[in-house]
Amino acid sequence: MFDYLVVGSGLYGAVFAHEAAKKGKKVKVIEKRNHIAGNIYTKETEGIQVHQYGAHIFHTSDKSVWEYVQQFAEFNRYTNSPIANYHGEIYNLPFNMNTFNKLWGVITPDEAKQKIEEQRSVLKGKQPENLEEQAISLVGTDIYEKLIKSYTEKQWGRACTELPSFIIKRLPVRFTYDNNYFNDIYQGIPIGGYTQIVEKMLEHPNIEVELNVDFFENRANYETVAKKIVYTGMIDQYFDYEHGVLEYRSLRFETEALNQENFQGNAVVNYTDGETPYTRIIEHKHFEFGTQEKTVITREYSKEWKQGDEPYYPVNDQKNSELYRKYYKLAQAQENVIFGGRLGLYKYFDMHQVIKAALHAVKKELKD
Ligand code: FDA
Repeated sequence: MFDYLVVGSGLYGAVFAHEAAKKGKKVKVIEKRNHIAGNIYTKETEGIQVHQYGAHIFHTSDKSVWEYVQQFAEFNRYTNSPIANYHGEIYNLPFNMNTFNKLWGVITPDEAKQKIEEQRSVLKGKQPENLEEQAISLVGTDIYEKLIKSYTEKQWGRACTELPSFIIKRLPVRFTYDNNYFNDIYQGIPIGGYTQIVEKMLEHPNIEVELNVDFFENRANYETVAKKIVYTGMIDQYFDYEHGVLEYRSLRFETEALNQENFQGNAVVNYTDGETPYTRIIEHKHFEFGTQEKTVITREYSKEWKQGDEPYYPVNDQKNSELYRKYYKLAQAQENVIFGGRLGLYKYFDMHQVIKAALHAVKKELKD
């Protein structure tokens, strides 16, 4: 008998399995996809590591997590500096002095602040009642119209006037000429891709991995193979949707290899106009400063989620949050099941947060 059955070979499951195995526990990992690594999976095409489930940039300010992950890969110096394409006009993100200079010709932070202040004042101090008003109250009309409105509408499939204001509580505005998207101290992309990280974590004599198997297709059996289960699948599915179905936003990716060296000159370009149907194009080689003859790009489309689709982003509105709380209560009552990861906890987590959470869970579990 195994000590743990880990359902899902994503980052959470892999960290848990690795740490438990190191402590002498026998672990079985099952994965319904035909590969390990969950959404951080990367696959080599044309000599380029292609991020199969969307762009993944590792960033953290937690030194212990940064040091932890270095055991499994060497990281390059990639700094995320996405750009926005609005009808062929190019702007730097996040909103910073480069963006403001391009928009208005302003040079100094004071000029930029004054411009934003003028544009915010169209709301005349009105309490924002929807996402449109919220965005204008934070950054003014020009940035909203060119860089937020249509992009957000494509992401959510609804007009900004119909979206709740809480979706954008904050909009990072930087009054320096700094295009680094993240504020974290550590940032980079693993040289050789992300899959090797999970591969190395699972490479242990105490770990057995089985791919292409869904926990729910043989649940009665899987519930008897180990003393405890670490479950990283969808929490509502675990309880057979007894309170209802939690909602997600989904994505569709279109990937193609192109017979040219450099397609867009940057890893991430967001399309912020309403006419372009996709939200962004990723050119994978720029994550690793690639010099290959060919390039690989992925167009990312936002899409309504229905049961059976790949669940990407939890919808943390009131309805779904209340539903999740019901499942959370049920989960708390399960003595021999640990719920973890983005699907098990119905929460968007960055990779560093998943690592931290899994390390915490395994430490608590093994009481060391
Ligand atoms: P993950 O979903 O990776 O793993 C769960 C695994 O369980 C999956 O492999 C699934 O197939 C399997 N599974 C589910 N149900 C099962 C069942 N019934 N039986 C068997 N197996 C089952 N983070 C970051 O730090 N920087 C970034 O740039 C990005 N970018 C990004 C882009 C996009 C588009 C998304 C959606 C997410 C990001 N992230 C990110 C977040 C990152 O993807 C996330 O932190 C980790 O992948 C979460 O790992 P988990 O193990 O929790 O889930």
